[in-house]
Amino acid sequence: MEELKFVEKLLLSVSDYICKQYLNKKDLKISTKKHANDLLTEVDVNVQQMLVKSIKEQYPNDLIVGEESGLDEVIDTKNKRAWVLDPIDGTQNFVRGLFPLFGVSIGFVVNERPEVAGIIFPVTKEVFLAKRGGGAFHNGKRIKVSQTSSLSNSRIDFDMGALDKRDSIIKTTTKLAGKVGQIRSFACAVMGFCQVANGEQDAYICFSLNPWDVAAGMLIVEEAGGIVSSLSEEITSPFDSDKICVISNAKLHKLCIDNLT
Ligand code: IPD
Ligand code: CA
Ligand code: CA
Repeated sequence: MEELKFVEKLLLSVSDYICKQYLNKKDLKISTKKHANDLLTEVDVNVQQMLVKSIKEQYPNDLIVGEESGLDEVIDTKNKRAWVLDPIDGTQNFVRGLFPLFGVSIGFVVNERPEVAGIIFPVTKEVFLAKRGGGAFHNGKRIKVSQTSSLSNSRIDFDMGALDKRDSIIKTTTKLAGKVGQIRSFACAVMGFCQVANGEQDAYICFSLNPWDVAAGMLIVEEAGGIVSSLSEEITSPFDSDKICVISNAKLHKLCIDNLT
């Protein structure tokens, strides 16, 4: 099966299970990983297992990198085909409610370059798909980034990250935050990428991302006409995700970087 079709099918196959669990979220079994706010639920683990099982059946020779169950090791992906998975991005939102802003992210990466990408937001059933050179799509309709070119008219999502990095993130973002028209902070990386791609926000600023947070989102943004880069405007592979911090509609990219200190 062609990879893009496979990704779409895979995303739809886990969506109903996630919605059911979200509706019963008070019964979830929850533990923590690296720190008290880094949550893990049985749903993260189960969804990753479902995705991995299907990928192994369809493409037995491909590599798989995923956030959970020990698949998060850095492996040599040069000249290889790899599937990069975040079973639930935005686990805090999933566990606590507030908004149903969490998504499943699948990036198909060849020789460290994303070639196919898919993200689903299970509650709203929104599906974002992209193929290198083929454009980005939201529920089947082609999408483009916004045309906003001034910071004072912009709406930007600042992802404030984990507590141990908060001081330095606040210092780095204060100047930019003081100049933008509106601020949001949805704490869901894949939502940040998709909202920029879809023109709903003009930039998403984040730090300390992982390969599974970015592998799909970066291709969706680039195919919608946006830019994903490090502070020094370097365009990196998803496996250098810790350098990625500015995701924008392209028109605001330089202005964002110049105002991050
Ligand atoms: C997290 C979210 C959050 C971002 C973190 C990610 P998770 O993913 O995307 O917005 O700040 O860096 O790890 O843990 O919910 O999959
Ligand atoms: Ca996750
Ligand atoms: Ca994540």
